[in-house]
Amino acid sequence: MTRQTRRRVIAGNWKMYKTQAEARALVSALAPLVAQAAHCDVVVAPPFTAIVAAVEAARGSSIAVSGQDLFWEKEGAFTGEVSAAMLVDAGCRYVIIGHSERRQFFGEIDDSVHKKTKAALVAGLIPIVCVGETLQERESGATEAVLDRQFRGGLAGLTPGEFSRILVAYEPVWAIGTGRVATPEQAAAAHGFLRELAASVFSAELASALRILYGGSVKPDNIAGLMAQEGLDGALVGGASLDAKSFAAIVNCPTRK
Ligand code: PGA
Repeated sequence: MTRQTRRRVIAGNWKMYKTQAEARALVSALAPLVAQAAHCDVVVAPPFTAIVAAVEAARGSSIAVSGQDLFWEKEGAFTGEVSAAMLVDAGCRYVIIGHSERRQFFGEIDDSVHKKTKAALVAGLIPIVCVGETLQERESGATEAVLDRQFRGGLAGLTPGEFSRILVAYEPVWAIGTGRVATPEQAAAAHGFLRELAASVFSAELASALRILYGGSVKPDNIAGLMAQEGLDGALVGGASLDAKSFAAIVNCPTRK
């Protein structure tokens, strides 16, 4: 597969943390610390209520803002939901879709991931589509089968043009919030598998251009080892993105040669 240069992306998933004031403070502290990070795209994903505060604080910086989820309908009687257009209106450029916490606790399935990804693309958002196996699935040797099912279920129905605009995040569930990071080799194997899958479902060219992020206990002290792997194009960071200094240290990790 011909190797394309893929621009790194470091995205912070704040989950259910940060008030508006805290979001403003975090983004204001982060902006000067990542101002020199010309080698990568920097994204933060606040909870819905703090999106506008984060967008305002990020103005004039290179920090982009993401939603953590969306609903696929344009509008309607869907209590508790937010549409793609509403995220765009609030100032988002990205949206996380299919995070394992949505899958585990809120009934997210591959079909809803697919509908959400389509809706995000129609609205002009960049979807960050998450896939990943549980510990039990890994230990029973089902990792590749799970990734295959989630990838095909969520993404196979996209057109090549749509697929070229998405990001994929490989997030092994056993590594999320546990402090148990995948080894760079484990992550690279999964990324390689996903890229092969992208090549067979779409094309070698699109697979080579696809940016695949790793997520799961990424910290300032393990980012360099992960980013040294050829197939890892960035990170989706949870806990370590809640602090400006630690997130900036992850963003500012040097590029591989
Ligand atoms: P973590 O979360 O970095 O706290 O493990 C990652 C994620 O869920 O995106």
